Amino acid sequence: MRWRLGLAGMAALVLAGGAFWLAPRGPDLAALKAAYRPPPGIPFPPDNPFDPAKADLGRALFFDPRLSRSGRMSCATCHQPQRNWTDARPVAVGDAGAPMARRAPTLVDAAFIDALGWNGQFADIESVTFTAITGPHVMDLDASQALARIAADPDYRRRFASVFADHAVSAANVSAAIATFERLIVSASHSPFDRWIAGDEGAISVSAKRGFLLFNGRGRCSECHSGWNFTDGSFHDIGVARGNDRGRGVMFPSSVKLQYAFKTPTLRNVALRPPYMHNGSLKTLADVIALYDRGGIDRPSRADPIRPLHLSAQEKADLIAFLETLSGPVASGAQPVLPPVVAQE
Ligand code: HEC
Ligand code: HEC
Repeated sequence: MRWRLGLAGMAALVLAGGAFWLAPRGPDLAALKAAYRPPPGIPFPPDNPFDPAKADLGRALFFDPRLSRSGRMSCATCHQPQRNWTDARPVAVGDAGAPMARRAPTLVDAAFIDALGWNGQFADIESVTFTAITGPHVMDLDASQALARIAADPDYRRRFASVFADHAVSAANVSAAIATFERLIVSASHSPFDRWIAGDEGAISVSAKRGFLLFNGRGRCSECHSGWNFTDGSFHDIGVARGNDRGRGVMFPSSVKLQYAFKTPTLRNVALRPPYMHNGSLKTLADVIALYDRGGIDRPSRADPIRPLHLSAQEKADLIAFLETLSGPVASGAQPVLPPVVAQE
């Protein structure tokens, strides 16, 4: 025990030394840590409040392949619980077998994000659902057919009737139920990083602690990956790739800075869900750090904090060690047992 305390003390000294190097005036580590403390609960909008039966109904719908034209693809095909609610592909592949333009984002902590989609085209979680169901590159099913398939199931009809005041199997109610379930998919705040900011000095390595200071200091990462879920909810061009996808610029064609700008993703569980970026173009965290070290593509839209960092090999390793401490369990409840039905036209 004595030895362990001694080691922790040494770690604190090394850390203080690192802090001195990174920011000559010395950051206030306690204040920095406090900025990453998780919120007390999940926010639900007043017009779609939490209700356990509604969440269970949403869970069943989320995993139901009847919502795709082929009857083989559900929301969970691309947002897989066992893959941190994404699909491990560079870009998602739709029901008809054609690739989508972008990667399937994780749904972890989506409840806390204001604008959804890589370029923020969705104002809330509710409005994503029927775009996914009816999108020709996604689930490719008419809204009316989707609703007819759900309404044909007496168990679903009974559940909609008991959850919703209007008893209807409607697009609004399907979206409300699925959104309620999605909001429950949250990082459970038990990662080594969470334990460290809660006071367990031994929860993360000395290298990861140096990485945390670099993340908040010279690396300028926290200017965009800010707060407990590591996103400012905003849109930036970090110089990822040339191509036709102008991201947020599609919605704001005259804004210089929004061309090639995409939403800052959460970094929770990031080490567990490669590949990275909106187009899945980077395979590993080392590739991501190499991009930031180069400063990405230098063009008028590139965000100001993005510029060559000239990191040493040790600093790169420290940043990766820090990012790896953000992995922890995700809460959401169990997968439902679905009837063995494959709906066909
Ligand atoms: C074929 C793969 C695929 C299927 C099936 C799919 N999605 Fe997605 N999902 C994506 C992709 C790709 C994006 C990003 C789209 C974009 O930004 O252009 C996305 C984005 C989202 C987002 C926004 C997340 C964020 O953080 O911005 C939500 C929420 C979502 N999907 C929910 C659903 C729901 C609910 C279903 C089922 C009704 C579903 N998805 C079915 C691929 C899929
Ligand atoms: C100017 C804002 C900004 C800064 C500064 C920034 N990031 Fe990012 N980060 C983003 C955006 C935006 C994306 C997504 C870009 C895309 O998909 O094209 C991203 C993506 C990532 C990803 C991939 C996540 C995923 O799910 O694909 C990682 C990891 C990451 N950043 C880590 C860092 C680190 C480490 C630093 C500091 C060295 C940093 N970021 C600095 C905005 C920023």
